[in-house]
Amino acid sequence: MQIELFSDKYKVHTLTNKNIDEIYNLQSQNVLFYEYCPPFVTRQAIQEDMRILPPGKVIEDKYYIGFYQDGKLIAIMDLIDGYPEKRIAYIGFFMTDTSVQNQGIGTEIIDYLCRHLCSLGYESVRLVWIKGNPQSEHFWLKNGFTPLMETTNNAAYEVILAERRLIRE
Ligand SMILES: CC(C)(COP(=O)(O)OP(=O)(O)OC[C@H]1O[C@@H](n2cnc3c(N)ncnc32)[C@H](O)[C@@H]1OP(=O)(O)O)[C@@H](O)C(=O)NCCC(=O)NCCS
Repeated sequence: MQIELFSDKYKVHTLTNKNIDEIYNLQSQNVLFYEYCPPFVTRQAIQEDMRILPPGKVIEDKYYIGFYQDGKLIAIMDLIDGYPEKRIAYIGFFMTDTSVQNQGIGTEIIDYLCRHLCSLGYESVRLVWIKGNPQSEHFWLKNGFTPLMETTNNAAYEVILAERRLIRE
């Protein structure tokens, strides 16, 4: 996948060890997220996130990327291509910078990406959110994700597995 095509408005780059400080700065401001999904972010955890993969996937399937506005990192996404099936994209993580939240930027990024993935032939986007996190839940429901089931498979806490079907216009 060509990540530069993931947004028409923001510059998209792969995030690496060189970006740890800016990733940490963005994530550590999102205090509510870590109340529902402890432990609180550390630089070491970010390095692990850069490599973590769901079962059966390889590093080439993983896109750990940043969205930049005027040189500033405003959103982070971990996207897995083809999980759990070929034509499904899985968002393992998505977070925006607190300084730009509640302005529609998260919705804009997700909406554009979904339309792009649809044009590439993907059938759906899946993800989980932590059960009870009002911010995540509101955001994903607002963005057309429908709960499929509750599960504890991924972590010690309950999560909601949800899906947005991609429909060709
Ligand atoms: C969820 C998140 C990505 C949304 O990004 P954003 O750029 O603010 O997105 P938008 O501006 O498009 O939409 C935000 C929506 O969340 C709502 N919201 C914000 N804080 C909220 C809260 N504490 N409780 C309920 N809803 C909340 C806003 O009101 C808005 O909805 P509205 O347009 O219906 O009013 C961002 O809040 C974030 O990074 N949160 C922490 C990480 C996270 O939860 N990621 C998702 C799970 S992986």
